[in-house]
Amino acid sequence: MTAQTLPDIEALESDLTARIAAADDVPALEAERVAALGKKGSVSDLLKQLGGMTPDERKVMGPALNGLKARLNDAILARRALLDERELDRRLAEESVDVTLPVRAAPTEAGRIHPVSQVMDEITAIVADMGFAIAEGPDIETDHYNFTALNFREGHPAREMHDTFFFHPDETGERLLLRTHTSPVQIRAMETIAPPIRVAIPGRTYRCDSDQTHTPMFHQLEGLVLDEETHFGHLKWTLREFCRAFFEVPDVQMRFRPSYFPFTEPSMEVDIRYERVGDEFRLGQGDQWMEILGCGMVHPNVIRSGGLDPERIQGYAWGIGIDRLAMLKYGMPDLRAFFDADVRWLRHYGFRPLDVPSLLAGLTR
Ligand code: DAH
Repeated sequence: MTAQTLPDIEALESDLTARIAAADDVPALEAERVAALGKKGSVSDLLKQLGGMTPDERKVMGPALNGLKARLNDAILARRALLDERELDRRLAEESVDVTLPVRAAPTEAGRIHPVSQVMDEITAIVADMGFAIAEGPDIETDHYNFTALNFREGHPAREMHDTFFFHPDETGERLLLRTHTSPVQIRAMETIAPPIRVAIPGRTYRCDSDQTHTPMFHQLEGLVLDEETHFGHLKWTLREFCRAFFEVPDVQMRFRPSYFPFTEPSMEVDIRYERVGDEFRLGQGDQWMEILGCGMVHPNVIRSGGLDPERIQGYAWGIGIDRLAMLKYGMPDLRAFFDADVRWLRHYGFRPLDVPSLLAGLTR
């Protein structure tokens, strides 16, 4: 190798340095690094040629090439730092979060519990605290459980009063129906639980009826207490305590009226005093009464239908309208809106999902 053929390090350096400075992103810079300093890069090539040079040439070219390599490395690292910083600035600008914007609500915050579910939970908390077990029965019932076993005689006018939804008769001629009340579960409870019995039975019920305070599907809570010594006084106390706990006001006014049900004797209906001011219900004042429940001492025929001996076993029962309780307590004027599935209504009247009602923490917060 002669002096003339020695590579022009300066020209090479200014060319490579310009290329590095022009690399606009990390991949482009990496390509320049490989082209100069990679295994087959231009500078690496020259370094490989050192072995073939004369000692004098090597003395000059060795330090020159190694110096070039070191400076290029520095230039690449500096460029890399600059590009990284530029990229960080770009991302910071692009991905910035405006912490002054309102946070989107989590599903547990946005979702709402329907007032009927809420009231069911509240009632369950109260009766469970009183020592009742919860029982359930099917929505589709037989005539036997819904009527006959409850002492509705064949052709009894009370059967008609229930506005029953019947299914078509099956091959045997039996007509199933949508239960018109939760009372059939009284019989099912007697068939499965040995006295003393103390059960509360929440559930859906159905009647062909619709106006401001009636919907074709509604909810009831049945109560049943059977043992050897239970009497009418226990019934009144239980209902008073229940209403006091449920309405969470000291002055709930209740009216017990004599009434008739085939499955109780004697029977009563209970009304709650209220007043309507505009679209609002006010409890415990005014001169209106809303019927919320029926109750009485369980009829001996019903106890017999349940397979128990009315000479030994007696007790009381009640059936309460859950939707009406909700209307009264939370001031909702029209029952039909309960089942319109309108989210605006639910947002207004619904409850927070994690505020589970309990007697200790308060039924409603
Ligand atoms: N089942 C009755 C109804 O839906 C309500 C009822 C009245 C239930 C008296 C009872 C009761 O348990 O003793 O109209």
